Amino acid sequence: MAPRYKSIETKHHEERESLFRDLQRLGRLSRRGFMRVAGAAAGIVAAKGLVTPHGFQLVELAQAQGAGRAPFTFAYISDTHMYTRNVNDRFVRSALKAVDDVNALDPQPDFVIFGGDLAQTGRRDELEQGAQILKTLKAPVHVQVGEHDWFLDMGEAWRSLFGNPNYSFDHKGVHFVTIMSVEEPDFWTARGMTAEERMATVAGLDNALQGRFEVGAEGREWLRNDLARVDSRTPIVVFSHSPLYKYYRAWNFWTEDADKVHALLGRFEHVTVIHGHTHQMLLNRNGNIDFYGMLSTAWPWPYAPTGLPKLSVQMNRADPFNAFDACGDGQFDMLTSGAIDKLYNLWNRDPVTVRANYLASKGAKDRPLATTLTSY
Ligand SMILES: [Fe+2]
Ligand SMILES: [Fe+2]
Repeated sequence: MAPRYKSIETKHHEERESLFRDLQRLGRLSRRGFMRVAGAAAGIVAAKGLVTPHGFQLVELAQAQGAGRAPFTFAYISDTHMYTRNVNDRFVRSALKAVDDVNALDPQPDFVIFGGDLAQTGRRDELEQGAQILKTLKAPVHVQVGEHDWFLDMGEAWRSLFGNPNYSFDHKGVHFVTIMSVEEPDFWTARGMTAEERMATVAGLDNALQGRFEVGAEGREWLRNDLARVDSRTPIVVFSHSPLYKYYRAWNFWTEDADKVHALLGRFEHVTVIHGHTHQMLLNRNGNIDFYGMLSTAWPWPYAPTGLPKLSVQMNRADPFNAFDACGDGQFDMLTSGAIDKLYNLWNRDPVTVRANYLASKGAKDRPLATTLTSY
């Protein structure tokens, strides 16, 4: 009798087998290409003792070649929240684990994005330690700022290490924008707060003292000027720290001027926003924009009690006996279409691939495998 329940691993095995069968039958890959894909997947299976979607992603890249714009992959690490190692080395170790994950990728990603909250209390020595760790990545890294990096000295140390938090670059026909999204109206001066009190208040997220995060008028003006020279058919990828939409106000999972930012992005055919801060698998689509939340290497946040975008595929509740559970890093495959496939590389769990088509079809197609345990 067939088992009533199939594990996620079994489903991955079945999907992979049927995909390889189809590929051979249709002859869409040369024998050399097929062996490369199959070999890569088999190597990973042997090394990790489970099936990961890496094999699928290589297939995607191989199939996409020759269709115009070159496909490529980039990786991410986010929300490491590091104290200095003499205070607490657990988050330092998990950041190093993520660097090892990314450095082990073969082929290497074209670059890595860091999603913000490198430090925990915003001290220069925490940020310097983080910069040293990020330097050990083999691929180039583009760094985003988070509120934990900023509100002790209002960005002085961060800027001296990483430069302006608003910048852009072009890569293989795609325009990438990194935008500082955790500005806040001044709540500290009138209250006579010290720098440490200001930092602790912002880091607290769910207190009533602070305002909500925003890109701000200056940041939006910078974005408007940056995008002015970009053709509307060029795919746009925006990295922010807070989600560039309004998810849950009470926890500052929120960008107050999100609608104004969306208006600046409205004329582009393909826009993807990739954000940190929420420490969870989070998927959303709003108009022409796909949104992906990144995993943290430090801890998972619970899902907010209301406002969760309905396309989100929730993670299982984290196992409190495993400090790495529901943490992780990940990869993005930039497809020739200008859309992105996303891999959530969850430590201690099966990885989850979210296809661009899942968001494009508003959840009708390519739904990722659902979790089987209680969500949180
Ligand atoms: Fe964070
Ligand atoms: Fe944050």
